[in-house]
Amino acid sequence: MKITVIGAGNVGATTAQRIAYQELAQEVVLVDVAEGIPQGKALDMYETMPVVGSDTRLVGTNTYEETANSDIVIITAGLARKPGMSRDDLLATNAKIVKSCAEQAVAVSPNAFFIIVSNPLDVMTYVALKATGLPKNKVIGMAGVLDAARYRAFISMELNVSVEDINAFVLGGHGDSMVPLPRFTTVAGIPISELMSQERIDAIVHRTRNGGIEIVNHLKTGSAYYAPSASAVLMAESIIKNKNRILPCAIMLEGEYKLNNVVCGVPVKLGKNGVEQVVQITLSDAEQAELNASAADVSENIAKLSALGIF
Ligand code: LAC
Repeated sequence: MKITVIGAGNVGATTAQRIAYQELAQEVVLVDVAEGIPQGKALDMYETMPVVGSDTRLVGTNTYEETANSDIVIITAGLARKPGMSRDDLLATNAKIVKSCAEQAVAVSPNAFFIIVSNPLDVMTYVALKATGLPKNKVIGMAGVLDAARYRAFISMELNVSVEDINAFVLGGHGDSMVPLPRFTTVAGIPISELMSQERIDAIVHRTRNGGIEIVNHLKTGSAYYAPSASAVLMAESIIKNKNRILPCAIMLEGEYKLNNVVCGVPVKLGKNGVEQVVQITLSDAEQAELNASAADVSENIAKLSALGIF
């Protein structure tokens, strides 16, 4: 197993570190345009391996030759948000970066699965899908796992219960209109509506939608990376170990959930073929309307790509 991580910033470096610590791959290649940064970080991590007891070998590079024949490529490259910015403000810059990275990576790793982490997430997943020309089961955006993790963390803080007992679902795009679904959110199998007032559920849903900017406002210099990297690695693990985890992921929809030609977060089964299945659940009219609105936001941004000359 060989995994390439593109982008040696906080998300990329933390992703490479997690893969190596979990010994999920024999080789991790960290790529970045900044000279010395991927080399230095990869070497520093390699020197950690004797301490943590992992035989993952890490390589840092500014070019793609060393990424050849990767099984999984994780794209984290691009700008992160600063306070006052929305994810959509990153569109023009990051679309060019993600397109270029995806083209260069797939040229030498035509059989890889691509996991996209760069923002605005759903649009960047669309860009990577088009740029690689790969089938849609192989190009998967990381958002729902992160958003659901935030949702679960906030529920655990509220109820003072183990995060492990909380199951949560978030649909839609990775933006302000994401759709956390309280109806499918349970604590040890108990619906949260049995354990919390509607007012508290609404407050937690609101905090989840704003989970990304809450971190940006604390850090000021960038956005979250511990939870995002952990989420991307969980998806990679489900593919590598053929675990068939059911996780909310951003994928190209062609009719599923009544949506077409748009990348949006829905529950999927992740296994050795990437997306093995889109898990369909029947939504209420209100839930479907929220999902439609979220998908419409993504479609609007996808439409901007041609004006930007990306496709
Ligand atoms: C977040 C950014 C990375 O949600 O999208 O933290």
